[in-house]
Amino acid sequence: MAKRRLRELKEWKSLRKHYNKIRDVTLRELFDNDPQRADLFTIDEGDIYFDYSKNRITPTTMRLLIGLAGARGLKDEIERMFRGYRINKTEDRAVLHVALRNRSGIPMTVEGVDVMPRVLSVLDKMKNFSESVRDGTWKGHTGRPIRNVINIGIGGSDLGPCMATEALRFYAKRELNVRFVSNVDDTHLVETLGDLDPEETLFIVASKTFTTQETMTNAESARKWIIRGLSSEKAVPRHFAALSSNAEAVARFGISPENMFEFWDWVGGRYSLTSAIGLSLMISIGYNNFISMLEGFHQMDLHFRNEPFERNIPVIMALMGVWYNNFFGAGTYAVLPYEQYLARFPAYLQQVDMESSGKCVDRSGLSVNYDTGPVIWGEPGTNGQHAFFQLLHQGTRLVPADFIGFARSLNSTGDHHRKLIANMIAQTEALAFGKDEKQLKAEGVPVHQIPYRTFPGNRPSNTILAKELTPFILGKLIAMYEHKIFTQGVIWDIFSFDQWGVELGKVLAQKILSELDPDYKGELMHHGSTARLIRFCRNNR
Ligand code: F6P
Repeated sequence: MAKRRLRELKEWKSLRKHYNKIRDVTLRELFDNDPQRADLFTIDEGDIYFDYSKNRITPTTMRLLIGLAGARGLKDEIERMFRGYRINKTEDRAVLHVALRNRSGIPMTVEGVDVMPRVLSVLDKMKNFSESVRDGTWKGHTGRPIRNVINIGIGGSDLGPCMATEALRFYAKRELNVRFVSNVDDTHLVETLGDLDPEETLFIVASKTFTTQETMTNAESARKWIIRGLSSEKAVPRHFAALSSNAEAVARFGISPENMFEFWDWVGGRYSLTSAIGLSLMISIGYNNFISMLEGFHQMDLHFRNEPFERNIPVIMALMGVWYNNFFGAGTYAVLPYEQYLARFPAYLQQVDMESSGKCVDRSGLSVNYDTGPVIWGEPGTNGQHAFFQLLHQGTRLVPADFIGFARSLNSTGDHHRKLIANMIAQTEALAFGKDEKQLKAEGVPVHQIPYRTFPGNRPSNTILAKELTPFILGKLIAMYEHKIFTQGVIWDIFSFDQWGVELGKVLAQKILSELDPDYKGELMHHGSTARLIRFCRNNR
């Protein structure tokens, strides 16, 4: 029997009817009418405290949304991922990043072959390498120990390790400079290397394909920088390592197999932080902290696989996302960490979420007739409060948000942290309950100002709390979002693990690259706008 399209499902239709009934119900009313609401809509998972009570939902909403997940076969889909089925159909690949952090000792297979021995052997190799860099036994070409580690990669080969290195800086070996170069803009490389000594610098070229234009361009320039700085081609093996699934291309670059850390086609770029792609992070925080992060990932993987949907944090997060995206028409989703160390977390999530869910064709190849992934964005609190929160509180758009915070600071100084958290909690309250005319009048606000100083409220958010930011908790948090995205992909019936949408621009850029050459003699076969842009740049170089 042909799979029913999303909007034809009876569960979807029931949700639509239900939405029409409750769309105008306010969070104030919902809380006033049910004193147990915060209990009902909180999951205290042990390490993560997930409060979703400030959402425009009732127990009926949840029952219907969970019914929708059931109708989409979510349980089976989860199993298919964990069992290594080739669920990435358009690239004909399995999707088994969960094996990278499988700490159970139980085999995980792709087509009957246990991948765990290879996963654990790469982890071991990473351990030896990272320890030798950290303790100074890995020497550069001139015999000096390494003080600077530069990860060259882009997308999933940059955002994950860059975000996590920043997030876990508290646990880092401070004598080592770990930096990230991603942009093909030469400024990025030049500014990153400006104050460094090649004798003490190690480059980690991170690229699954080892063909990505930006990464290979940066890697070639870094190679020249080393050769120029150390006056010898022979310096390359002591100053370069590679993280890739393309052994031949790595060898062609001149990096020896001992310095190559492998991963596999069943690891998607944006899901690769726990693969060899995490090497720069491991060098920064050490093997034990890295393993602790993997444990956190693994615990959340188990939670996602085993918990009933009613108590399953990633599933509930996904359902909240679908509720606002598809019923309330919210086109964006804000992620607001109240933790400076998580400054890069929203940028990291942009790739994981938007490259996974930015699709307009369903799994049967038909154009979807509903919205899929929202725009993901965010900044750390409290900075965001002084920038875009005005729109969140009084703008015309509904922007659901996740607030992420920790009960303790890692750098406890005076009352900074108490103020930080007070702000976070206050924002969720202000968004949810707002401030009405009656309150403003009672405060003596002049009548003519009342419309401008009214807060409509009824703006939903999740609050995600943990005691302290540790590697373990970071692992849990990331896995939570990964599985949220997976769940939404199942509901929207899209392929979450391909990214064909990035290809066209790459191909066109190759063509334009040659046309930008001042000696290019051919005709510019483009629409008028593009041809003029090319001419402007060519004439003004
Ligand atoms: O942006 C497209 C993309 O393929 C991402 O999915 C990936 O993370 C990134 O490019 C980098 O790819 P690679 O690791 O192969 O250099």
